Amino acid sequence: MNREDFDILKTNIIYFDNGATSFKPNIVKEKIMEYYSLYTANAHRGDYKNSMIVDQKYEETRRKVKEFINAREDSEIVFTSGTTEGLNMIVFGYFKNVLKKGDEVLLTESEHASNILPWFVLAKELGIVIRYIPLNENNEVTIEAVKNSITPKTKVISLAHITNVVGDLRPIKEIAEIAHDNGILVVLDAAQSIAHKKIDVRDLDVDFMAFSGHKMYGPTGIGVLYAKFSLLDKLKPLYYGGGMNAIFTKDGYIELREIPTRLEAGTTNIEGIIGLGACIDYLNMIGMDNISKYEHELREYLIDKLKKLDFIEIYNENNKGAIVAFNIKGVFAQDTAVYLDKYNICIRAGNHCAKILNNVFNVNNTCRISLSFYNTKEEVDLLINVLKNSRNIYNEIL
Ligand code: ALA
Repeated sequence: MNREDFDILKTNIIYFDNGATSFKPNIVKEKIMEYYSLYTANAHRGDYKNSMIVDQKYEETRRKVKEFINAREDSEIVFTSGTTEGLNMIVFGYFKNVLKKGDEVLLTESEHASNILPWFVLAKELGIVIRYIPLNENNEVTIEAVKNSITPKTKVISLAHITNVVGDLRPIKEIAEIAHDNGILVVLDAAQSIAHKKIDVRDLDVDFMAFSGHKMYGPTGIGVLYAKFSLLDKLKPLYYGGGMNAIFTKDGYIELREIPTRLEAGTTNIEGIIGLGACIDYLNMIGMDNISKYEHELREYLIDKLKKLDFIEIYNENNKGAIVAFNIKGVFAQDTAVYLDKYNICIRAGNHCAKILNNVFNVNNTCRISLSFYNTKEEVDLLINVLKNSRNIYNEIL
């Protein structure tokens, strides 16, 4: 789908590492170049024409994000550097100020490092307790397991929407309902879902959400933190400086601006914000439902072909995300990745920043194919042929 929109695809590369980062359509690059060639200025600081154009585009992107995820207000959208920063802001800007010793946070063992490490640090600082919701035999979170994991001390459930190695889609709407019935807040790491399915924060009823621009065909270094207004309004800034204050005096008095401005200190990633706006227009033009449908069909096709190769072990056959985790039996995952690269096929190998996941798969490293709408069945066929010829893999890569 829409391959002609990506110059980089003309280089004959087969790119199956979209979970790490996605390619950027030409329109995103053009909009960034326009900012540098035609109207460079800082945001929210100037009184001349170019700075007004920047202000307008900056706030236009905020509105596009709001509409893209169906938030209630523009002010619920904060620009960050990416999912990691967003999750850290949630943990250290909000939960650090409300959690008490003994309070429990529910995670799973298949979370990305960015949704585990900040909680570990907070646990050390405050004495809160991290607990893991047990996964089922397909490494999925079930409603039953969530219900059984909740105790009177549970205050937060923080989960990936789609995990980056298993690729399972969590039933977040149902989880949020149970959580709220028990006075628990829900944090959603949408890094791996934002480019693959329609997300409606009002329908899911999540309290906080973070995602990155670069996994949704936008620039690197830009991301979004969403929170319900009343919660975001209580989130303390982690950075202080220009743009976020209304007044300060020499004796230390500071008056901060309203949200979201007080959470965007310093000069932000303006080109990233302009690029993010362009990629949201682009995704809307293709249609998120069309993307989900296409990627689902392509995954089924890939799984079907891989299953016919008896020397391949697939770890997540039944999951719904655009991610397939596998190994060539008896071959180290990184060696498989190096071998495929000889044929211009890019995959990711390793533990994918989910370092405690080996408790789940019982292997330390896996190969991961993460699909995009620009991947094709022809590319899958080429991959399968290269895998079929991998009998002498060590002769080829050593
Ligand atoms: N978190 C990214 C991935 O899963 C980098 O590859």
